Amino acid sequence: MSAVLPIPTQYTNHRFRFLYHARSLSFHRPYRLPVRVWRVGNLPPVSVNKDGPAASGGQVPDSPAKPTHAPVRPRRIEPVPLTTLVARADARLIADVHHPELAVTGVTLRAQQVLPGDLFAALPGARSHGADFAAEAISSGATAVLTDEEGAQRPGLRDGRVPVLVHAEPRGVLGSVAAWIYGEPSLELAVLGVTGTAGKTTTSYLVESGLRAAGRTTGLIGTVETRIAGERLASAFTTPEAPDLQALFAVMVEQGVTHASMEVSSHALALGRVNGTRFAVGAFTNLSQDHLDFHRDMEEYFAAKSLLFDGRSTTEVVVVDSAWGQALVTPQTITVSTEPGTDAVWTASDLDSTPTGEMSFTLHGPGGRTARATLPMPGEFNVANAVLAAAMLDATGVELAEIVTGLATVEVPGRMERVYLGQDFAAVVDYAHKPAAVTQALDALRARAEGRVITVLGCGGDRDTGKRPLMGEAAVRRSEVLIVTDDNPRSEDPALIRAAMLSGARSAGTAGGQVLEIADRRAAIGKAVELAKPGDVVLIAGKGHETGQEVAGVVHPFSDRDELQAAIRDRLEGHP
Ligand SMILES: Nc1ncnc2c1ncn2[C@@H]1O[C@H](COP(=O)(O)OP(=O)(O)O)[C@@H](O)[C@H]1O
Ligand SMILES: [Mg+2]
Repeated sequence: MSAVLPIPTQYTNHRFRFLYHARSLSFHRPYRLPVRVWRVGNLPPVSVNKDGPAASGGQVPDSPAKPTHAPVRPRRIEPVPLTTLVARADARLIADVHHPELAVTGVTLRAQQVLPGDLFAALPGARSHGADFAAEAISSGATAVLTDEEGAQRPGLRDGRVPVLVHAEPRGVLGSVAAWIYGEPSLELAVLGVTGTAGKTTTSYLVESGLRAAGRTTGLIGTVETRIAGERLASAFTTPEAPDLQALFAVMVEQGVTHASMEVSSHALALGRVNGTRFAVGAFTNLSQDHLDFHRDMEEYFAAKSLLFDGRSTTEVVVVDSAWGQALVTPQTITVSTEPGTDAVWTASDLDSTPTGEMSFTLHGPGGRTARATLPMPGEFNVANAVLAAAMLDATGVELAEIVTGLATVEVPGRMERVYLGQDFAAVVDYAHKPAAVTQALDALRARAEGRVITVLGCGGDRDTGKRPLMGEAAVRRSEVLIVTDDNPRSEDPALIRAAMLSGARSAGTAGGQVLEIADRRAAIGKAVELAKPGDVVLIAGKGHETGQEVAGVVHPFSDRDELQAAIRDRLEGHP
């Protein structure tokens, strides 16, 4: 059961912005939305903004308040009798007329996305109650409604038009209800989940890469995108809402996916979004001061993360390099460490790096198994992510040789992502967009840099203004050259955002490097590449995998990786 926490409106409001794409047509629902399917390898712009769903990205809907695409649903659904759900959920049924044959074929918590036959989950929110949207849900064909006592009293549900399942904690039980409706799909595939403050996205891609190297049919669920057996969809959240997640697992099962690699955010755990999900492997990276706007304190944040280790994961794999990790260890835990001298089950030794930003290390597993591994990403923390991924893969039966292949061939969008076209300096795109992340990314690069560090950084508009000087200062203290540029200014005057960053950068005085201000992000990236000398490191930070830059309400296509590639290519070809 999930912890009882205040639920911020952006997670409960029905009208939040939405970026899913429909891909499957359901035979008994002939009017589904247009299908858009892409193959991995021919990638369309897919982006969810770091500062919340749909604030930026190449495909933001015209009217962002309304979803333009529905989440995926499985094609084949065995109708589940309402009486079964009432009994299993231990809910109270309010029905004017008893229809023992009444059954549901789907579930959603968004009234606008109700399909005929659905159970509509009317959850309490901070500003409104889902039950206020029941009339819309019922007119779209909802068969029944799941809600709490308060919801059942709302005008839209009092008239008894459809049966109402009343439960004291509808959000907590929704995950299990959704799993029952879609046939408990997480029992049909192996779900490998990873939680922690940093490294979830990176580790989930490392795991997926290893699974692919072992020939498994894979799924991936996370911040950047969702992948189903080689097809990709945009993600609205790091971890989808429970009904969408269970439907997604069911689609994966239909598509032959045997193993799904998944980021599990602390929000998702606290809000019960992964309730009803069986994890073959649950993993923990680390914990640091982050998301404390949502969780009251570190203890509560840790309590949310630790829900992945409450028995729902068959095998538990934990990085024990923090006290938080150590607190999760039980006699059954598979421990991981990259600190020297620990007796963890999985460790790394003999770290090495190349001037162009690759890492290599010796991987040590149980039973004296060792292998030399390379990682096409810089950053010692990525070795920790890689050893964690190796332990997770081993737990699901992947051979060490396949693990090594998976690590060597991984591509993680916008996370310490190396751009290498044969140039004699390292060039990296990273998603670091908070002071601590900028510090960590630059410390990791500095630790292995032979030459200078040249950083390009901006801050987003309409968000936390306090972090701007801090980011400027963190960056300038760790760079020989800092180029302050624009991120997503949104409705703000970009010059003022840069000015705040510059004031922080200047406060470092002689402890910092040279500072340049170049508003145009493309020009800033070009300048960084122009300045690079052999052995230097160029870091383009802040936007990571994002594919759009939002300026004054308009999202312009923009990719740090593409721009960095173009600039390096120009330089290699001798263009200005
Ligand atoms: N194990 C780690 N420890 C510290 N920082 C990390 C780690 N892994 C990645 N990072 C940094 O944190 C940022 C977020 O990484 P990511 O893999 O997207 O994590 P998450 O999905 O948990 O937010 C990246 O920009 C990277 O520089
Ligand atoms: Mg992530």
